[in-house]
Amino acid sequence: MSTAQAMGGTWKPVPLTVDYSHDLDGMNAAIDSATRLVYVCNPNNPTGSITNAESLKKFCIEASAKAPIFVDEAYLEFLEKPETQTMVGLVAEGKDVIVARTFSKIHGMAGLRIGYIVATPERIESITSKVRSTMGLCVTSLKGAIASMKETEFLGQCKAQNTECRDYVTSEITNLGYNPIPSYTSFLIFPIAMEGKSFMKSMYEEGVGIRAYEMYGKSWCRVSMGTHEELEYFVETFKKVTKA
Ligand SMILES: Cc1ncc(COP(=O)(O)O)c(C=O)c1O
Repeated sequence: MSTAQAMGGTWKPVPLTVDYSHDLDGMNAAIDSATRLVYVCNPNNPTGSITNAESLKKFCIEASAKAPIFVDEAYLEFLEKPETQTMVGLVAEGKDVIVARTFSKIHGMAGLRIGYIVATPERIESITSKVRSTMGLCVTSLKGAIASMKETEFLGQCKAQNTECRDYVTSEITNLGYNPIPSYTSFLIFPIAMEGKSFMKSMYEEGVGIRAYEMYGKSWCRVSMGTHEELEYFVETFKKVTKA
């Protein structure tokens, strides 16, 4: 939304469905002749939820005839079988779909700021002519990204550790009586009873960095995965701060 605003555009938000997946029919209906881009994040941030791949594919095929569809797959690599969930094949079929990937998530390279998009040659050309500056990527980022892509065993370990930690936090938080949204990403979000800002401040004071959100008239805590020990510390601190 902030990027659209910064470019002088307006934004039509389409609320998620009850299971926190994208309302694809609603999004399709919201496209009109003024629509220049449709943004879909799957799995989604900040909810961590997923939209069914077959439904999303159908949506992309239909809607991309009306406007380019940007599919942000930042968290895709955390899925069990990412190759069955990606929209990248639609680009090969010539659909006006822009698939974005980042090295900031499973590759753990957020500080090196590198990612890529897959789109049709025409779409790459049109994006490049509008937003590409003369500043290139640094060699450290490029070499790091290439090396990381080859580290399939390590990436597999990262995924397994993420799943183990996510299961652990999900079960601890559920046992405390909270209702987290089932997560397909490297974070977990759940509504809390405390006011978000003071909750976040108290957590930070104990050395735990989390994000607080205001959504659906409630405060939410979003915690990112780390090592198991870090998440144990998160759970202990959460109990202390919320006096559970
Ligand atoms: C959905 C989503 N897309 C993209 C990014 C950022 O990617 P990058 O660090 O490559 O800008 C994030 C990071 O928070 C994200 O959550």
